[in-house]
Amino acid sequence: MSKADIGLIGLGVMGANLALNIAEKGYTVAVNNRSVAKIEDFMVAARQQGLDGRTLPEADLTAFVRSLRTPRSIIIMVKAGKPVDDMIAQLLPLLDKGDAIIECGNSLSSDTQRRFDALRPEGIGYLGVGVSGGAEGARHGPSIMVGGSKEEWHNAEPVLKAIAADFEGESCCAWLGEGGAGHFVKTIHNGIEYGDMQMIAEIYGVMRDGLGMDAAASAAVFKRWNAGPLNSYLIEITGLVLEATDGETGRPLVELILDKAGQKGTGVWSAIAAQELGVPATAIEGAVAARAISARKDERIAAERIYGKPGRGSIAVTIDDLEKALLAGKIVSYTQGFSVIARAAEQNGWGLHLATIARIWRAGCIIRSRFLDQMATAFASDASTNLLMVPDFVQVMKDCHPALRRVVAAGAMGELPLICLSSALSYFDGSRQAQGTANLIQGQRDFFGAHGFEIEGRGSDLHGRWPAIIDAAAE
Ligand code: 6PG
Repeated sequence: MSKADIGLIGLGVMGANLALNIAEKGYTVAVNNRSVAKIEDFMVAARQQGLDGRTLPEADLTAFVRSLRTPRSIIIMVKAGKPVDDMIAQLLPLLDKGDAIIECGNSLSSDTQRRFDALRPEGIGYLGVGVSGGAEGARHGPSIMVGGSKEEWHNAEPVLKAIAADFEGESCCAWLGEGGAGHFVKTIHNGIEYGDMQMIAEIYGVMRDGLGMDAAASAAVFKRWNAGPLNSYLIEITGLVLEATDGETGRPLVELILDKAGQKGTGVWSAIAAQELGVPATAIEGAVAARAISARKDERIAAERIYGKPGRGSIAVTIDDLEKALLAGKIVSYTQGFSVIARAAEQNGWGLHLATIARIWRAGCIIRSRFLDQMATAFASDASTNLLMVPDFVQVMKDCHPALRRVVAAGAMGELPLICLSSALSYFDGSRQAQGTANLIQGQRDFFGAHGFEIEGRGSDLHGRWPAIIDAAAE
């Protein structure tokens, strides 16, 4: 029997869909899973879709590895964390030098880097690959962010490029850098995803609680926006979520869904990464914080009893303001996300190209949008890592920030929480203020800790002659 082109371990929803996608693109894929029942279910699906001729089920790990052509490429799609380490440990004795493990879960990039470093001396390649697009994307074309060994990437490149989404003839799959680079970029993708979703939810809140719009009216606006500069997957699905009705009550489904957002960790990781790298990423941080606030339902109920219900009457913003506010907020958020990536690339020697990243995010992934095509073009012509300084976006910001300002101001006066949009606005204002206020911080630091400050023309590490404060209680 001829050998399979590639192997895949882990037939959960994502793994099974990726395997079917591979088979559909004309490659033979051997599949393995700890539970045999999952392999059987997968084969039923493969048969139904006429793809069983190119899928090779192997319940035994040794037989599975032997069924692959060499050098072997093995995708593992198991839960992030220990299950990945356990899988690698099981595979290692069965592999030969030159083989590669391609780990496609949402892994922490430092874990990927550790695995990459540990496998290198063994001669085993390790690719840490971010795959975005959910189950549909995995089946029909995800965005694929590859990090790891370049040589082994070339072995797997034809398959990975073939299964990825396509944007105007270009595959949305690229090798981005060594070690944890692919998973790092996927983590920041998810942070940006959190920011997009939160800003959209805030705008929905203004529509609902400030403008008194019902779900159907909001759905119509999001649908219209999807034909304009905000055109994106998340705006599209927002329109669809808002217009869905509950079969039992006939009410808008969104009104019945509990307002507590879940999270699996990548948003938090991206906020931590930004903080550790010293890059301000207020939109990502705000979005993560907003999910945490959402989870505290009981506390919110108790506090509303004390302070009254926020969202008082109608506020004076237009639908056009909301569209522009969202666009401005998104530009700030993407500026922050790309800056985090740029700093991480510098620190880790990854040589990431922001234009390439924007290009492979144009289709397949959750944050795919028209806007990313503009960003890819902007980064290609000006490799500046600060999108707010790139001419195309300067123009959009100049046009849109007054609307963001009106929405944030009206939201504040109307008691509507806009954690992401307001932090995006403050970031924008803070980032363009030549004379900031940290001079006072430096004065305070020197006052209580003699930390020193700088005066232009007089030097750094200067100190003030501050008055002594005698604590009255200690006298
Ligand atoms: C993607 C998504 C996906 C992620 C979900 C859930 O790019 O396809 O980012 O990888 O798992 O969005 O994430 P949360 O549960 O943290 O919202």
